[in-house]
Amino acid sequence: MAQPSNNSPANIASASSRLSIDTARLYRDAIGVEGVGQSEIEALLPQLRSVHQTLIEGSAGGLEAEYACLTLHDTMPDSLAQIEAMAEPIRGFENIAFIGIGGSSLGAKAVHQALDSQDSSLPRLHFLENIDPRRLDRLLRNWTAEKTAVIAISKSGGTIETVIQLLIVRAWLEKQLGSDEARYHQWLITDPVQGWLRELARREGISSLPVPPRVGGRFSVLTAVGLLPLAITGVDIRRLLAGSAANAARCASDDLRENPALEMAVLFYLLDIKHNKRVSIMMPYADPLQLFGDWYRQLWAESLGKRMETLPDKPPAGTLPVRAMGAVDQHSQLQMYLESRHDKIFTFMAVDDWGTNLPIPVSSADKKHFPYLEGKRMLDVLEAEFRATVQVISETGHPNMTLRLPRLDAHVLGQLIDLYQRTTVYAGLLYGINPLDQPAVEKGKKLAIQNLSGGR
Ligand code: PA5
Repeated sequence: MAQPSNNSPANIASASSRLSIDTARLYRDAIGVEGVGQSEIEALLPQLRSVHQTLIEGSAGGLEAEYACLTLHDTMPDSLAQIEAMAEPIRGFENIAFIGIGGSSLGAKAVHQALDSQDSSLPRLHFLENIDPRRLDRLLRNWTAEKTAVIAISKSGGTIETVIQLLIVRAWLEKQLGSDEARYHQWLITDPVQGWLRELARREGISSLPVPPRVGGRFSVLTAVGLLPLAITGVDIRRLLAGSAANAARCASDDLRENPALEMAVLFYLLDIKHNKRVSIMMPYADPLQLFGDWYRQLWAESLGKRMETLPDKPPAGTLPVRAMGAVDQHSQLQMYLESRHDKIFTFMAVDDWGTNLPIPVSSADKKHFPYLEGKRMLDVLEAEFRATVQVISETGHPNMTLRLPRLDAHVLGQLIDLYQRTTVYAGLLYGINPLDQPAVEKGKKLAIQNLSGGR
């Protein structure tokens, strides 16, 4: 059978929806002494093969696997019909409150913001993450109980910020509607067996969906944790998973020239431990990716900010993730980026096709002030600013890379999610730490409860 040529429609379609990943300026060849040298990579080749093998073995076994978070595009499709069926009636409410924090909120919020269709026929969405009595009080005053749905999301089923907000909203629903009816305004996403939320679902017969036990909070956006909220908001969750699958296939090799997640992990690892780069700045030139930066910040910090227990003096691992925004931060942090310490790695992000662009009307009277704006559109200006920042950061010798998104759609977001989750797991393996646990976070949760119990 004839093989499809490189120009076949299938190839053109997949190439045009592919995330472009340019890591060249993280290397010494392009950026100078602060970049990673080929010899540093070569010295690590056996270790790279070994971490790749660990990841492959740890991903086998579906939802039971250690790295079950990296194969959700294979394991979740069986549950999609149930998720979509659950989303359908919820969309009929006027207001929907998603109660959850950290990994139980950030992924859905990020993808929703990136893909927000601004469809006025959809319900109003409220992500109740932090404790904010003023906001919740105002919302409850404005909502009508009959037209309000509540979706509480917590893997453990007992995170205090989520618990108290659900208790308050439940009491409000019950007061307005009676406890029988209030049950039909609530949905729960939690562990399939244990925790308070699971007990509540059983006790009151509240509709619920499970979080796969092996998938941790910050890696759970491609489970019901992210997929139910996103299905409600009209995101094509099948395309999201297809994007994740496409990136996983792109990262199948143990050759880092063909596996961008492995390459990014090793470059960021070497820049930290050999080049003293302690800060990793994600700077999208696109407002819709602001919350993606927050999602990345949690994923990277909570997974990698640990001590390397395997080494004698247990040195700390991880680069501090910082989210910036172009072009706004050119008028804010850029000064520091350029002239302060050389302890930073930059990831710039740009979107090729926004689906819209606005011409800049320059009258003949204004032309003498802005001759360079004649015939230009808004995105020409954003692109010029993006290029200027990349240029000046590179000329200053800071290692940096660029991710170009062909457009903001579910497939591209799925690729990005898999790319970062995979890179994070590889980086954890290179540091010799467990990227899936969060002992310091758990300690904070316990101490808060101790304080509430009067220090006992
Ligand atoms: O990544 C993690 O495990 C954490 O950030 C959790 O997502 C966060 O603490 C919320 O936990 P839970 O889903 O159990 O309410």
